[in-house]
Amino acid sequence: MHQLLVEQLAMLNDSASAPISRLSNMLAAIYWSDPAISWAGIYYIDDQGNALLGPFQGKPACMTISPGKGVIQSAVEKRASLLVDDVCSFPGHIACDPASRSEVVLPLFDRSGNLKAVLDIDSDQPAHFQDSDLTWLEAAAAILQESAFCVTL
Ligand code: SME
Repeated sequence: MHQLLVEQLAMLNDSASAPISRLSNMLAAIYWSDPAISWAGIYYIDDQGNALLGPFQGKPACMTISPGKGVIQSAVEKRASLLVDDVCSFPGHIACDPASRSEVVLPLFDRSGNLKAVLDIDSDQPAHFQDSDLTWLEAAAAILQESAFCVTL
């Protein structure tokens, strides 16, 4: 199932379409691929280190997250994917949606290796994402990052 999703993302990443359209469709594909996914979106990291809300699917979310705050900025500091089994026990977790129970954040890098954005996916189920999911999640992130930096905020 995840392999099919990754193939679908590659098809939606069609360079004939506008980057914002491609990103929106790819995030919709992720969101609708699994009923336990409650939110999927991109946050861009600005020059001051703030995470700014980009295209997403799900409920309205925090628009600006300051450096050092929440799961997203922890992943940015580590420059690595971050799985959180229980967001309620993650110090500083920002609950945009009180129903969120687990979360995964994947860094997106530009061609020079600079971390410029993250892919954030939430679930209303505890421990929904496993280490074994990182293979498809990182494949999905690699596809999204091809379009992500064509969009300016
Ligand atoms: N939970 C995130 C905030 C963004 S929302 O999940 C969409 C965090 O703690 O950084």
